[in-house]
Parts: sequence; structure tokens; C-alpha cells
Amino acid sequence: MADIIIETMKHGNIDDVAAIEAACFSTPWSRNAFADAVDSENYEYIVALDGNDGGVAAYAGMQVVLDEAEITNIAVDERYRGRGIAGKLLEGLVTLCVRRGVKYLHLEVRESNTAARSLYAKCGFEIDGMRKNFYQKPTENAVLMTKLL
Ligand SMILES: CC(C)(COP(=O)(O)OP(=O)(O)OC[C@H]1O[C@@H](n2cnc3c(N)ncnc32)[C@H](O)[C@@H]1OP(=O)(O)O)[C@@H](O)C(=O)NCCC(=O)NCCS
Repeated sequence: MADIIIETMKHGNIDDVAAIEAACFSTPWSRNAFADAVDSENYEYIVALDGNDGGVAAYAGMQVVLDEAEITNIAVDERYRGRGIAGKLLEGLVTLCVRRGVKYLHLEVRESNTAARSLYAKCGFEIDGMRKNFYQKPTENAVLMTKLL
């Protein structure tokens, strides 16, 4: 496996990121939404780059408000899954949380998304509630999870 480099997301990564996002989600974020997040001090976005060609293998981001943060996106290009990259991105977000004094890291996940739920449980997130019919396309409950830092 090629080396994977984790670094801050830049505008030059957004075409790759938006393509992965569109392949993974039924209501994907737009290029503009990612560009706004990259420019905002209230968001932290990181990418995992393939050391061979510099292409984006995966990305993750969160919104930070005082001592709380919420993961807004995380996805790994299908060709790079199962190699620990999502775990590394979560570690990267946690490091940024600690640097910014964040104490609670929250997220929402589709009830049926067993891969993501297993990832979050492995990384120390605990279930703290459900939001009924939170998602659309298809309609589905959200599981709310939090990691205490
Ligand atoms: C969920 C996702 C981010 C995992 O990325 P990944 O890089 O393949 O995950 P990792 O290799 O870091 O796996 C870490 C842990 O996640 C869990 N996991 C990952 N893929 C899994 C799968 N297909 N089935 C079950 N558990 C899985 C396992 O607990 C795994 O630990 P293990 O390898 O010791 O078993 C990836 O499948 C993805 O991008 N899915 C589509 C987008 C998405 O659903 N994002 C989350 C929105 S809330």
C-alpha cells in the first residue's frame, strides 16, 4: 500500500473530495459548501492523500463551537477502504479538537450504516440518542454518538 499522508484540506483538493462525496451520499455537499468550510475558522477539514500521486483517498471535517464539535463529513474512496484510513482521519480530528479545547465530539450516522457505526464504536464514540426519520433519500433514523475528550 502506498503511503497515506494526512494534511489540512486545501481548495485544490475540493474536486476530488466532491467526487468522493457524490459517490458516497444521496444528498452530497456541493463544491461550494466544502470551499466555505475550508475558508471558515469554525470548521476543520483534513484529507488523506495517496503518497504516489497526491490524489485524495479520503477526507473528514467537523464544525467547532466553543468546547463542542460535530463531525460533518467523513468518507473514504471505495478503492482505499479497509486499510485503517478512516481511523487515522478520526485520530486527526481528535488531535485538532484537543488543540482547540474541544471536550465533546458529536456525530450522527444512519442506523443501517454498520461499517461507520462499527468504526465509531472502535474509536470510542458512545450512543447518546436517536433522531427519528432524520435522514432523507431514503428516510431513516439517525443514531447520535459522542466521544468525550
Ligand atoms: C465507513 C468508512 C468511512 C470506513 O472507512 P475505512 O477507511 O474503510 O475504515 P477503517 O479501515 O479505518 O476501519 C476501521 C474500523 O471501521 C469498521 N469498519 C470499516 N469498514 C467496515 C465494514 N465494511 N464492515 C464492518 N465494519 C467496518 C471496523 O470496526 C474497522 O476496524 P477493523 O478493521 O479493526 O475491523 C467507509 O466505509 C466509507 O467511506 N463509507 C461511505 C461513507 C460513509 O458512510 N461515511 C460515514 C457517514 S456517517
